[in-house]
Amino acid sequence: MVGNLFITFEGPEGAGKTSVLKIIHERLKENNIDVLMTREPGGIEIAEKIRGIILDPAHTNMNERTEALLFAAARAQHFFEKVVPALEAGQHVLCDRFIDSSLAYQGFARGLGVDEVLSINQFAIGQRLPDLTILFDLAPEIGLARIQAGRVEEINRLDEEGLAFHKQVRAGYKEAVRRYPERIRIINAEQPMDNVVEDVWSILSEVLG
Ligand code: TMP
Repeated sequence: MVGNLFITFEGPEGAGKTSVLKIIHERLKENNIDVLMTREPGGIEIAEKIRGIILDPAHTNMNERTEALLFAAARAQHFFEKVVPALEAGQHVLCDRFIDSSLAYQGFARGLGVDEVLSINQFAIGQRLPDLTILFDLAPEIGLARIQAGRVEEINRLDEEGLAFHKQVRAGYKEAVRRYPERIRIINAEQPMDNVVEDVWSILSEVLG
């Protein structure tokens, strides 16, 4: 691949994505590779505020359509304020979660429909999809056990959903892979963290050179 790339990282709770990305970001800097590292929902002020509303554990009565629209709203603001300018300025952008989270969580696990959620997201961001997506795959039982063991930094409203929901999230990601087999690469996130880091690093070395 040539040119500057938009790369996203996806996966369920407890996959270790955020910790792995911190290590990867440091390594990229050591190798003088200029990337913008960001996350969803959030990444800039307005979207971080929307994140606070969506993920607040007190908001147990949030309607699932409201949830899907708020994720899409946060995505639009973050995309146009931060991602697009960075890509236009020639930087690679690495983003922790993007549209596939909405397809898996809202479209599939919440049952709103993958096509419906895709369509509100196409309204939010236009047709641009990531050039590459790395999916951290692991059994939901393992992800939830990691959360319960306190190995994640923040417990949010979606983390508090039960095993059945998290199984649906995994099935939702499988559906995303079925639709976008060229774009999404799967890595085994059940491995020890060092191995996961190496798997991500080897894919990034391949595409970023
Ligand atoms: P994080 O904890 O990985 O930052 O993600 C926040 C939570 O939001 C996580 O439970 C996944 C969820 N989420 C969605 O349900 N839909 C989305 O579109 C995004 C970006 C995140």
